[in-house]
Amino acid sequence: QAVLPRLHGAYALAVVWAELPGALVVARKAAPLLIGLGEGEFLCASDTPALAGFTRTILPLEDGEVALLTPLGIELYDAGGTRVQRTPTLLSGTEHVADKRSFRHFMLKEIHEQPETAALWVARHLPEPVAGGAEAPHAGSLVALPLDESVYAGVERIQILACGTSRHAAQVGAYLLEQLAGISTSVFYASEFRYAPPPLSAHTLTIGVTQSGETADTLAALAMEQERRQLVADPAYAPRLLGITNRPESSLARMVDHILDIGAGIEVGVAATKTFLGQLLAFYALALAFAERRVGQRQGGGSSGRSREELKALVAQLRQLPQQLEALVADHDQRCAALAHRFEGTQDVIFLGRGINFPIALEGALKLKEISYIHAEGYPAGEMKHGPIALLDAKVPVVSIAVPGTVFDKVLSNAQEAKARDAQLIGVAPDCPDAELFDTLLPVPVVDELLSPLLTVIPMQLLSYHIAAHRGLDVDQ
Ligand code: M6R
Repeated sequence: QAVLPRLHGAYALAVVWAELPGALVVARKAAPLLIGLGEGEFLCASDTPALAGFTRTILPLEDGEVALLTPLGIELYDAGGTRVQRTPTLLSGTEHVADKRSFRHFMLKEIHEQPETAALWVARHLPEPVAGGAEAPHAGSLVALPLDESVYAGVERIQILACGTSRHAAQVGAYLLEQLAGISTSVFYASEFRYAPPPLSAHTLTIGVTQSGETADTLAALAMEQERRQLVADPAYAPRLLGITNRPESSLARMVDHILDIGAGIEVGVAATKTFLGQLLAFYALALAFAERRVGQRQGGGSSGRSREELKALVAQLRQLPQQLEALVADHDQRCAALAHRFEGTQDVIFLGRGINFPIALEGALKLKEISYIHAEGYPAGEMKHGPIALLDAKVPVVSIAVPGTVFDKVLSNAQEAKARDAQLIGVAPDCPDAELFDTLLPVPVVDELLSPLLTVIPMQLLSYHIAAHRGLDVDQ
């Protein structure tokens, strides 16, 4: 307690002292630290998976707090040194299972768990049409989300703060919120937003996306936004914060008023895969929920979004997702394993996408860099000709996402440009005559373009996984 005020920056400390064996002093600031209450023992860890197999009862430490753990119990003190009492929380059943089953790596297991993630999501959030038609109770809702009506009411703008893969999910989300619900949406790197936020806008919902719920930049950016809005007297600028996370017990959940739990279960591998899918699905549900509340409204001289019939058609297609993912994961696991050896000497890979699949190109590049250490870039395909095309030659594979819809022809012609530079073209596209352009095809089924990211991301994940595994790397770390 004497030392902590002298420390700068973020920390999570666990201190032992030879004079007092059996005691542990823990403290945190802007970094996660949980106390676990086991049977005849107390534990501390930075994340719940580390407590797997020991306990499901946890006490998350708050910023600035100090705790003394001894066999007799826990003494908890606030930053001012005053003793505080808090009730521990119980993790849900799935939260404490961290088991690789028969898979070689957690990452592969987590990729294979995605059909289940989708099935749970469909069961929770897409209620079956109620017999009795429009007269039956709740017959009107296309999506069921555990959110208060106040989250939707009067929202004119949305801003989303996130890092890494979560930011890519947010970019897909922004596309959906704009195209389905007609709400202007901006996505920010949380690490940039905290130091250069845009001018305050009225009636704005701020969404923080972090699967762990503990990413320091995302939490700090949200806290900053909350504080600066609390200083404004005009209620139009009041903070309205929503968190999207896989950890309902996290710091994020304790900071914001409303939470969407993606419920993907523990993700052990460093590469976010099933939690990315969970975040995407949370955004599909949110965008549909906003869209159905705005059907028929007009904004800024144009229609705000989709008709109810169009939304219903999307929901019907979303119900097919678990089966589609099941088939896709099994198929691409084999295809990507067979393709991986071709990347033995590869040093650079370019990922191209446009529209709603541009964030998936970014995600493909991030996954590859993160676990295989191969340099990779994601680009909006139309930007290649403005300089980056100079990098292409026969040694640089180009992965191009081309799905039928608004930009299909455009992406194909951008791929053609890359081919003219002798690049090896890998297409993530439907198996159709247009796809003959690609040297290798990773086929995806045809769905509504708006839903395509949920499928095109699968070959991205499996390609990265198999390239890294083929190189003998420790994929999960
Ligand atoms: O827990 P978060 O979602 O806030 O994490 C953000 C990023 O660190 C994370 O998505 C990172 O980019 C992934 N490991 C990428 O696979």
